[in-house]
Amino acid sequence: MVSYDRIVRELLELVQIELYGVGGVLHGGALLVSAFREGALNLYVYRDGGLERLNKGRVSFYAEPPYGSRRVVIARDVAEGREQHVLLGIRVDKPGEEEPLAGDMRPMRVFGLADDGRRVVVSASTEREIGVYAIEEGSSWKVVDLPGFAAVTHARGDIAVGFGALRGSDGSFQVFVVDIGRGELRIHDPPSGSGYMPVVAGDKVLYVLEGPLEARLMQLDPETMEAEPLELPGRDLEEFRPVAFNYLRIGPNGEVIAIARRNGRSAIFIDGHRIPAPEGMHSNAYILGDRVVATHTSLTTPHRVVEIDPETGEYRVLLEGRKPEWLGEALGGTGFEWVESFDGERVPTFILYSGRAPKPGPTVVLIHGGPFSEDADSWDVIAASLASLGLHVVMPNYRGSTGYGDEWRRKILGDPCGAELEDVTAAAEWARRSGLASRLYVMGYSYGGYLTLCSLVKKPGLYRAGVAGASVADWEEMYQLSDAVFRSFIEYLFAGRKELMRDRSPAAHVENLREPLCIVHPQNDSRTPLKPVLHFMEKASELGKRFEAHIAPDMGHTINTNEDAIKILLPALLFLARQEAEAQDKS
Ligand code: 4NP
Repeated sequence: MVSYDRIVRELLELVQIELYGVGGVLHGGALLVSAFREGALNLYVYRDGGLERLNKGRVSFYAEPPYGSRRVVIARDVAEGREQHVLLGIRVDKPGEEEPLAGDMRPMRVFGLADDGRRVVVSASTEREIGVYAIEEGSSWKVVDLPGFAAVTHARGDIAVGFGALRGSDGSFQVFVVDIGRGELRIHDPPSGSGYMPVVAGDKVLYVLEGPLEARLMQLDPETMEAEPLELPGRDLEEFRPVAFNYLRIGPNGEVIAIARRNGRSAIFIDGHRIPAPEGMHSNAYILGDRVVATHTSLTTPHRVVEIDPETGEYRVLLEGRKPEWLGEALGGTGFEWVESFDGERVPTFILYSGRAPKPGPTVVLIHGGPFSEDADSWDVIAASLASLGLHVVMPNYRGSTGYGDEWRRKILGDPCGAELEDVTAAAEWARRSGLASRLYVMGYSYGGYLTLCSLVKKPGLYRAGVAGASVADWEEMYQLSDAVFRSFIEYLFAGRKELMRDRSPAAHVENLREPLCIVHPQNDSRTPLKPVLHFMEKASELGKRFEAHIAPDMGHTINTNEDAIKILLPALLFLARQEAEAQDKS
């Protein structure tokens, strides 16, 4: 384990590594770049090797501009992390001049944002309802209500599209089309599986159909709402046998740009032809002249922008952060393992080895959030900070995770803190059995924080200690505090089995807590609110449990600045270092 001074200094250096992504091609062939730089997420215009900052105030997220756009649309939280967003437009030739898009729109939780160059369409939630809103020429109007949690992904002309849980049934996701002129919502239920990330392509809509074990591209007629498989000239995409997709868009000349993934690594395809690219994950890609510009990352490569020559496969890094020199020695390489769970299912698990820990050595099971998300071969500052601390990091993609087929994702529905907790446990046991782990710790953020609490109260004796960040302690209380979209999300997660909500809440099992617990929680979190966690602590305190708690002020659920990252990670790392030092003293 490293010293206090070194933990503080190295964490600061880690969160200061600049992260770069390309976000679009603007007027005149300039690139829109989103970067964690200057201490926060900011937007830049990249032209002739130089970066010019676009935004003046904070950016929460932005809309991908259409090719050749002269403006960029951003969403800004105006409620100190509570995620009440306003929309602003910034003209590319007037950096720093932010203009409200619609004066008549009150701040709302925006969770889907599309810009077609003229009109902006969002999915947004209030306390009471989820809706699709259109904004044009300074005013906004609600186009339709959404009967479940579903996000707008793209818009062109009179059509906006998105996907989500719009029909109860088996938990699959539907594709929706909003006819803005007619104020109509049309829902397409894919033949077998879930629809993802639709995009308007001329007079058709393309989307990703995720089946039980494989994914493919579909073409939907937005009038008849009938779909058929999309045929592409190149066969590479099929041969890759995608399980899921990261990205689907239409290029400047009608090209189909798709990024497919399987087992946590992705590949870029244009019209079905594979474009050579560095190994890891690519979150998006754009065609710029005869080049492809993409965002690339891996577990050991912070997000960066690469320019690829699709003919030769040669690539050049356009933008990347400088890594501290010690990082190479701290990260000991990556692994991937199919871990057998209690029922014979295999759990795809990523491992980031610490270059500073022996084998066997102290190991942390790091649990991702979502739960509809995944750990992949992509940069994760939490994992990197843990490996730097001297812990091997095991990251199970428990059932409920994306990226391994829609069946695997849906297996969590109606059973939170059930079989998926057994998957996490199986990964911990694998770590010990395989000779990687001497001692085990558990840590997670959000849904991962929830599963950390579940691990400690349901699997006492397995871990030496745990860190629960932005966790869920009590589903019933959280439901009462949630807005329309998160109430809908919780109902979906429990698949209507509300009677389970009490028993599946860590708050109902505090008496089982045995190991030291570190709680870290943003004060203004409006997704996983603080209050139920305060009540959990009250009980833990009454029962004489050993825990510590760090409430991070002036921030919400998401980490938007370097300071936010420090507020969450520093207490966690110091706690783990102390626990490990204590354990070593005893042994
Ligand atoms: P996440 O946070 O893990 O960051 O996506 C969550 C927020 C809300 C819920 C679950 C996870 N929820 O069930 O409401």
